[in-house]
Amino acid sequence: MQKRLVIANWKMYVSTPKEAAQWMSQLGAKGTAAFPGVDVWVAAPYTLIPGLAALKSPMVKVGAQAVSANTGAHTGEVSAAMAKSVGATFTIVGHSERRAQGESDAAVYANLQAALAQKLIPVLCVGESERDPNGAHFEYIENQLTSALRGFNKASKLVIAYEPVWAIGKSAGDAMKPADLQEMHIFIRKTLTAILGRAVADTVSIIYGGSVEAENAASLLEEGGVSGFLVGHASATPNTFIDILSLCKKTLRVKKSKK
Ligand code: PGA
Repeated sequence: MQKRLVIANWKMYVSTPKEAAQWMSQLGAKGTAAFPGVDVWVAAPYTLIPGLAALKSPMVKVGAQAVSANTGAHTGEVSAAMAKSVGATFTIVGHSERRAQGESDAAVYANLQAALAQKLIPVLCVGESERDPNGAHFEYIENQLTSALRGFNKASKLVIAYEPVWAIGKSAGDAMKPADLQEMHIFIRKTLTAILGRAVADTVSIIYGGSVEAENAASLLEEGGVSGFLVGHASATPNTFIDILSLCKKTLRVKKSKK
């Protein structure tokens, strides 16, 4: 069966253990069978990972929003091994909000390698800051992918989150149009095939992030062709996030009944 992947990127929105527990119990109240075919992951602030992992939720995989390839004298940083030691099973790598703080392509590459070394599944974020009328954003994405994935261990799992920076943190009306997403999705799949070979590229989930809300989730999935979403602000409110999960499940059903 085709699968969906929806990752809540809590950023700093869900910020205390109490809020995290409430969020999890609202989702848990739906029951483990509520979203068949939809994998749900939560990218949490470091401080919340141990508490979430301790819940051992059968519905939710817990991960980090970033990890550092550094060890030792780096005040304030958290390594992949440290995140793993408190229960992270995946990590976002190269989110645009971190790139904006100075995370270079070289750092993104190193952090991705550090995640792989700890067997954390990397969710690699790529995305252009603006769309270019001559299509330069395609080359930009190709360069980001090529730089981060050189020497990629083909036995590892990988998720690509395409997040156009200009569409992040707004509302559904400002998100990418499904037809544009479809075009970029095909381009990313082609680029991954060139870098990793078809057999490996076909195992990679490509998800979309940037103002995903309940209003646009269905069309982005059905017309955009992506496997799921990285959801920021709309993941902070459990009910909104649950609505998005329901739409993901529903679009799977639609696909099935058309066959
Ligand atoms: P947004 O954030 O859904 O608030 O646009 C997405 C992200 O930055 O991962």
